[in-house]
Amino acid sequence: MERTTDVAETFRNLAMSRHSTRGFLPEPVPDEVVEELLRTAQLSPSWCNVQPWRTYLLGGEAVAELSARMMVGKAVPEEFDVPQPERYTGAHQERRRESGYALYEALGIAREDRQRRLDQAWENYRFFGAPHLAVVTSTTLLGSYAYVDTGAYIAHLLLAARSLGLGSIALASIGGRSDVVRPALQIPDDEVVIAGVAFGWEDTDHPTNAFRTTRADLDEIVARVDRLPQ
Ligand SMILES: Cc1cc2nc3c(=O)[nH]c(=O)nc-3n(C[C@H](O)[C@H](O)[C@H](O)COP(=O)(O)O)c2cc1C
Repeated sequence: MERTTDVAETFRNLAMSRHSTRGFLPEPVPDEVVEELLRTAQLSPSWCNVQPWRTYLLGGEAVAELSARMMVGKAVPEEFDVPQPERYTGAHQERRRESGYALYEALGIAREDRQRRLDQAWENYRFFGAPHLAVVTSTTLLGSYAYVDTGAYIAHLLLAARSLGLGSIALASIGGRSDVVRPALQIPDDEVVIAGVAFGWEDTDHPTNAFRTTRADLDEIVARVDRLPQ
């Protein structure tokens, strides 16, 4: 394969400039842009090219209707198709905490202000005001690797959105209301809800869109292996 720096540099810029959008403008995205978004995401690789994901694309009134149905059950316990983590510990917990505090700080929410933190959490079910929501499911027929493939697809969606000038955010929180999502979208029994991807034009004045998360140093993530133990 040609060693091109152009493509690599473009991807680096794209990856560096993407971030999760938590404030959208209400104007819908033109159909042809949505089409291109989905076509680009569809280029995602998968084991044996099975493409085990499925996307339920909500626009128009469906977005607000689904949001309203989720809000009705505010007291209902969360019900994920794919089990959520039972707890976060060690470095995982630290990274989670740091990104959470950065969000609250951007919004001027004090750490002890539980009510405002809760209100902000409910923004998840408003999809942060996005005019479009893709609910991404995966098949149950192929085991855990289908979920891995679907994660790659979600990443493609997020980066493709950025490449088209759109803001986006993955929402595992959607999976926490599968009791609402499944009947509303008539999702068959052999699919599980993995996450939503909300997208649209980013509200650049929204305070949550000003903060950026950090990443662990490579030494924390990469185990370099030059010689195998005898
Ligand atoms: C699979 C997945 C699910 C996520 N679910 C949520 C969510 O439910 N609510 C939310 O506010 N952010 C969610 N996020 C966004 C992450 O918090 C975000 O990607 C992370 O903090 C890194 O920040 P960045 O996307 O701005 O780089 C999710 C991200 C991924 C990849």
